[in-house]
Amino acid sequence: MSILVLGGAGYVGSHTVDHLCDNDYDVVVADNLETGHKEAINNKAKFYQGDIRDKVFLNRVFQEENITDVIHFAAFSIVPESMKDPLKYFDNNVAGMISLLEVMRDFDVKRIIFSSTAATYGEPKQIPIKESDPTEPTNPYGESKLAMEKIMKWSDIAYGIKFVALRYFNVAGAKEDGSIGEDHGPETHLIPIILQVAAGQRDEITIFGDDYDTKDGTNVRDYVHVMDLASAHRLAMEYLIDGNNSKIFNLGSQNGFSNKEILEAAGKVTGMDIKSNIGDRRPGDPSTLIADSINARKILGWQPQNENIEKIIQDAWNFKSKHINGFSS
Ligand code: UFG
Repeated sequence: MSILVLGGAGYVGSHTVDHLCDNDYDVVVADNLETGHKEAINNKAKFYQGDIRDKVFLNRVFQEENITDVIHFAAFSIVPESMKDPLKYFDNNVAGMISLLEVMRDFDVKRIIFSSTAATYGEPKQIPIKESDPTEPTNPYGESKLAMEKIMKWSDIAYGIKFVALRYFNVAGAKEDGSIGEDHGPETHLIPIILQVAAGQRDEITIFGDDYDTKDGTNVRDYVHVMDLASAHRLAMEYLIDGNNSKIFNLGSQNGFSNKEILEAAGKVTGMDIKSNIGDRRPGDPSTLIADSINARKILGWQPQNENIEKIIQDAWNFKSKHINGFSS
């Protein structure tokens, strides 16, 4: 009995694989290594290199392994890139999901945990955002993830494949020992870019807009530690193993930090003077995103261990200090 983790070499995927291995699950990773890193995969997990849209490859993995549960991270996730090339996103994300569910149906695998996103909501109608709020994505990335959720819903009704979709807010941090962490090329996320400035790899960071209707005019986001996301995936899987029905959960800390507050906290953690300037707003950025994640806490029993923002940044800094140029170093 093995758990198949698709995209297990990526940022959230590799931390989840690590957590599952630590909890004595048998893990099989499949990843095409287009954005993931082989070095990030826990060496207790078995690895197959291949693409989720390649059904010959997927069939081989399901034939060779006794897969009972699937955790699906294998998707593109950069919002600005999705605006420029939506078909790339619908092809990889949506077509990938269809091919995966076809193979799961053929091999009678009945449980899937899916990495979804706050981008399914678009501009929030209320703060904090509840799972029942309207979903009106403002970019193809969010639209592709919402379509994937809907494809799973209908596959549940038709084939009895149960799913949990986990809508993450802003994931950050790294495994505490700094052995694995966030390594995107190119990097677009706030905390890793700030840490590049702290490490002397960039001169300064541009904060995108300070004229929003927030406490200090900069965007407010809800940060959740990547190891807390990892435990949420395990709990969601165990929730389905216990025979529960398909469900969607928000995963966030229920606290908001402005971009300026993150900058200040990173200065404190690293002890560096992090230079910044204020630039134009970035198209598509909602002003404030904060999760209501009561359901994950009550129903899954999720108890995040790392809600302190300085601890989240400290762990990301540990990884950065050990891997100054990412996994390639
Ligand atoms: N930011 C800057 N300068 C930078 C990079 C980011 O000011 O160089 C700001 C952004 O404008 C935003 C905040 O930092 O206000 C956070 O930006 P990130 O790019 O780190 O994260 P996002 O909030 O854009 O993205 C997150 C998830 C996505 C999800 C999206 C939903 O990472 O998966 O929320 O809006 F789609």
